[in-house]
Amino acid sequence: MAGHLVAGNWKMHGTRGWSLKLLAQICLHLDGLARRVELLVLPPYTALAAAHQWLEENGAPVALGAQNLHWAPEGAFTGEISGPMLRDAGCTYVLVGHSERRAGFGEAGVLLERKLRAALEHGLTPILCIGENLAVREAGGTNALLDSHLQESLFQLSPDEGARVVLAYEPVWAIGTGRNATPAQAEEAHQHIRAQLSSRWGAVIAGGMRILYGGSVNAGNAAELLAQHGVNGVLVGGASLRAEDYVAIARAAADSRAAGSSGT
Ligand code: PGA
Repeated sequence: MAGHLVAGNWKMHGTRGWSLKLLAQICLHLDGLARRVELLVLPPYTALAAAHQWLEENGAPVALGAQNLHWAPEGAFTGEISGPMLRDAGCTYVLVGHSERRAGFGEAGVLLERKLRAALEHGLTPILCIGENLAVREAGGTNALLDSHLQESLFQLSPDEGARVVLAYEPVWAIGTGRNATPAQAEEAHQHIRAQLSSRWGAVIAGGMRILYGGSVNAGNAAELLAQHGVNGVLVGGASLRAEDYVAIARAAADSRAAGSSGT
């Protein structure tokens, strides 16, 4: 696998103008980083087409993704956006099952399986987010919860399909709280996830799949998280809204001794 993936989830932030300004600031400071790390931003839907055009016109080495998709290619689904529409807007990645979608919009189970399939079918790389909340962690149920998140969606796919999915371990208690998982906690969860992938699909597929860490990643803690053997990149929310911080995280990823490691 190529170097680490550094994904910036902008969530519901940014007009088109603000988004283009942020992209311009990011690109101004990249300084060759894109040769050592894969860069990805996930702006809100309304900024995608403008962001794509800007990235194309400027030859910027940053991939574009969306934060959600509907499972159908088109139809009577008011307010929804499909895989083909995201491709048309220039996306190559899409988040599936972010904890804010799970908690706020009831996303789970077969719906997420359908979204994974839809993304793959339409040429988008899905980033499937999984992770426990604080009550589950404190009750010692983290591994079981991760297993059930994998079982209900990812493990419904064939090995060939599954191999094209990126995973993001995002403990809910770490998202937007300023309290990141410790490097040891992240590594433990990543190792558990990879062991599950391996027992299901074998070591070759498991070793080739990216597992990102997400949850209060910032310029100060990125290096130690990215140094973990099983961590293949980060999914960054709040800190990705500031160009300086996003670039600092990308630099930490590029410099990480684990860059490109499969964790196996
Ligand atoms: P955060 O968000 O970095 O603001 O904690 C991460 C995410 O939700 O993907």
